[in-house]
Amino acid sequence: MSKENHFETQAIRTQMERSQYLEHSTPLHLTSSFVFEDAEDMRASFAEEKERNIYSRFTNPNTSEFVDKICKLEGAEAGYAYATGMSAVFSTFAALLNAGDHVVSCRSVFGSTHSLFTKFLPKWNIETSYFKVNEIDKIESLIQPNTKILYAETPTNPAVDILDLELLGNIAKKHNLLLVIDNCFATPYLQNPIKFGADLVIHSATKLIDGQGRVLGGVTVGKADLIREIYLFSRNTGPALSPFNAWVLSKSLETLSVRVDRHCENALKVAEFLESHENVQLVKYPFLKSHPQYGIAKKQMKKGGNIVAFEIKGGIEAGRQFLNKLQLLSLSANLGDTRSIATHPASTTHSKLNEADRLEVGISDGLVRVSVGLEHYEDIIADLNQALG
Ligand SMILES: Cc1ncc(COP(=O)(O)O)c(C=O)c1O
Repeated sequence: MSKENHFETQAIRTQMERSQYLEHSTPLHLTSSFVFEDAEDMRASFAEEKERNIYSRFTNPNTSEFVDKICKLEGAEAGYAYATGMSAVFSTFAALLNAGDHVVSCRSVFGSTHSLFTKFLPKWNIETSYFKVNEIDKIESLIQPNTKILYAETPTNPAVDILDLELLGNIAKKHNLLLVIDNCFATPYLQNPIKFGADLVIHSATKLIDGQGRVLGGVTVGKADLIREIYLFSRNTGPALSPFNAWVLSKSLETLSVRVDRHCENALKVAEFLESHENVQLVKYPFLKSHPQYGIAKKQMKKGGNIVAFEIKGGIEAGRQFLNKLQLLSLSANLGDTRSIATHPASTTHSKLNEADRLEVGISDGLVRVSVGLEHYEDIIADLNQALG
């Protein structure tokens, strides 16, 4: 496939070799292992003298197709696919960090990533220093001689803040750090962190990449030498994506651009509606002019994504009542589904944090996060309207 092909074409036409049956659509290779011609073939394969499938914990044609697509869509050299987004995050850190290393990360990261930094990596004497979304100028003061990774998500979850990838790339380069970006909210269609200097990009494929709320998956892509270390760690520790889920996710990528285009159109309409509603205090959507980092979002994202955060007047109780009144929107922990989903972080996912800690990551009492789906936008808005009333 030529390098010049457009995103949509790469997402559809990157495909494993056809079998003798000349199938048009990719078949599913639901097999744990692969056979060898003879003892020499087996020896040479294990010695990595041949590039071939041995065992599906290492590679499988379906996972390789999925990884190849993500590499092309992100502009990456190599990758490895995981059972979940969190196994991608954990394995990336575990493969690259040694005891005594240090991480600098944005404080606004996904909850389980925060737990990894604060509860689990310290078991191996790996500490993390946090900067807030509006404190990029403090990053350099957090860097220590043992700092190895600079980590961030953008847009952030759930407050939809934007971090300047170009700036992060420059800092990482200046201090010889690995820049690792969780690109889950943007997808490779809206944003390519490698263009701005990221060494590795991580996705929870469970979200917009699957896009239909069916399977879990994750992937890390980036520089080949780093992926080699990540691959060796992962092939021995076993977090591999199943061939079936890889097949589903690779199929999903064929429609990623059209789905995400519609998600973004719907989300912008929802954001504009919310901005005009009297019971809404504040709306955060990257492509609304009122977003504090609108200029940065425009620089690094093609469109604004499907997540809208807003502040409902009346705090925690108003947030709870709003959720109870919703009829069409689902109350669910997922996001990036065809079905629109609403969550109220202060009374659910972040209820164990005290108010000060919540505010530090942009979660006020009345913050509601909507993952805008693919239903007709008028129906989504009508449901939000009646629940806000
Ligand atoms: C930004 C981000 N990163 C990582 C994850 C973890 O992904 P998974 O649920 O596939 O393990 C999530 C899940 O919501 C997420 O939102």
